[in-house]
Amino acid sequence: MPEPKAPDLMEKIVSLCKRRGFIFQSSEIYGGINGFWDYGPLGAELKRHVKELWWRSMTQARDDVSGLEATIIMHPRIWEASGHTSTFSDPMVDCLLTKKRFRADQIEPQSGSLFHYAGAMAEDGGQLTQAYSVLLADGKHVDSARKVARQFYEQRGVKVKELLGEKVEKVQNSTRYNPENGSLLTEARAFNLMFKTYVGPVESEENVAYLRPETAQAIFAQFKIVLEVSRQKVPFGICQIGKAFRNEINPRNFTFRSREFEQMELEFFIKPDEAVEAICGSVARPGTGHPGAPQPNWGWEAWHRYWLEERVAFYESIGLPRATLEEYWQKPEELAHYAKTTVDLLYKFPFGTQELEGVAARGDFDLSQHERFTGKPMGVFDEELRTAWAKLDEPRRQRLWQSYHDNRLRYLTKMGVAEEAARREAKEDADGLAKGQYIPHVIEPSAGVDRLILALVTQAYSEVTETDEKGKSDTRVIMKFHPRVAPVKVGVMPLLRNRPELVAKAVAVRELLRPHFSVFYDDGGSIGRRYARQDEAGTPFCVTIDFETLGEKPELLDTVTVRYRDDGKQERIPLSGLLAFLQEKLR
Ligand code: GAP
Repeated sequence: MPEPKAPDLMEKIVSLCKRRGFIFQSSEIYGGINGFWDYGPLGAELKRHVKELWWRSMTQARDDVSGLEATIIMHPRIWEASGHTSTFSDPMVDCLLTKKRFRADQIEPQSGSLFHYAGAMAEDGGQLTQAYSVLLADGKHVDSARKVARQFYEQRGVKVKELLGEKVEKVQNSTRYNPENGSLLTEARAFNLMFKTYVGPVESEENVAYLRPETAQAIFAQFKIVLEVSRQKVPFGICQIGKAFRNEINPRNFTFRSREFEQMELEFFIKPDEAVEAICGSVARPGTGHPGAPQPNWGWEAWHRYWLEERVAFYESIGLPRATLEEYWQKPEELAHYAKTTVDLLYKFPFGTQELEGVAARGDFDLSQHERFTGKPMGVFDEELRTAWAKLDEPRRQRLWQSYHDNRLRYLTKMGVAEEAARREAKEDADGLAKGQYIPHVIEPSAGVDRLILALVTQAYSEVTETDEKGKSDTRVIMKFHPRVAPVKVGVMPLLRNRPELVAKAVAVRELLRPHFSVFYDDGGSIGRRYARQDEAGTPFCVTIDFETLGEKPELLDTVTVRYRDDGKQERIPLSGLLAFLQEKLR
């Protein structure tokens, strides 16, 4: 069976998601709302499994990460400190004719003939002298450009008799025109992506608040309290799963770019490299591959590599093999204002290879910002550093002091702190380092739940074509989810629904398994159709109770058939060992 072509595949995935209740439009009966998606019964289970596995691997399975569940609406000054109020925007352009809005950086470059107009003459003899232009793809008739131009002037109240001053030139790779109708677009303007609301009954400026555009800032804002209550010491992390909201200009590619979505973020706090060197004598840098268990002499680059590899290992453990992921190291000009380095983990979605997760080194930007904005200290005291510093020789002290000082000065200057104040603060910070104080640096693996679900659905999607004895072929879908994430783990089926003894036994098997896994009981239709339904839902195992279970062949009494989703093979298992058998397979 040839692989479906990418656009076809996307259509098939969207349609399967709706038909089987994985994902469908929010507010469907009202025609939907752009950029918002609901997860149906299977989708909700899939999402829950993914979040639970992430949570387990990030915090429950480790000693050095604690969890947090913060509110979506937070103090609005948080977003000033983080830079979101001033810089969290996308360049936006509008079509001058239809008013349709585009993200300027997502417009495909176009070439063709550009028709300029100086204005239009009205039937009553009046004139509108407003310049306008239309880009026409090669091979299209000039009348199409004129029609668009006429509409433009008529929208502005002119009953057009004649277009004025038509001039033509060739253009290459322009992004100034609407790809759908050739109309000139407005100049790009910054559009802030945060959703605004008001807290309390008065809709005034001082009551403005925002729906969080990332979960990360709550972690930074509550860093000190979590550090204290969890009795952690740097290096350690705080993780959170939760909703985030961005008023995306063009939500698209199904759930890939939504306006409401969920993030799974870890902020992992580490010592600055100067502190590591003071304590350990040198800073270990990473080689290639996983650097192994964390070591005290790791600098930020080793920690960054570590978390990148941990994230790839997580994806592998839930059914996205390493070969399906690509690393993209952002170029300096692409980095967010806070980032020293960001590596995007990309997945090959049907619409292109795109970001699934970003692993960023955020330096000490965020904690420093919250310290400056609140006046509350965000630094930590590190006894080990204080002791080590006292033993350093003078040249090394000088060098580490200077390096820390210069980094702080660079940050303060970049944030617009006046020169004299910046110099004074940077000196105080470097003096603080010598006494064992610093603001921790951060490594941040930040994943989108919805994008991951879309990647898992894409990866799982497969088709089989089967031909029956009459030569009739039928193509059906098997969702080959990794058993760990599969929405339903086990389908339980009596061979026939009208035989009470089969049904009673099947119900008993369902009750045996239900406390341990999500189980779906199905007695409707032929057994083949029931298997096919479970294949489409991605259920990795089906257990069938037949007459042999009841002792038709005495040697098979109290055995059941376990059917494997991916190859349809079947195995006979004693009921007494069924739970353990499935537990082993579903670990
Ligand atoms: N705290 C860092 C941060 O938020 P980001 O790259 O803007 O970084 C992190 O977002 C992840 O959140 C992305 O890799 C993606 O998986 C997910 N994400 C971001 N915007 C999204 C959107 N509009 N729809 C769905 N997922 C989104």
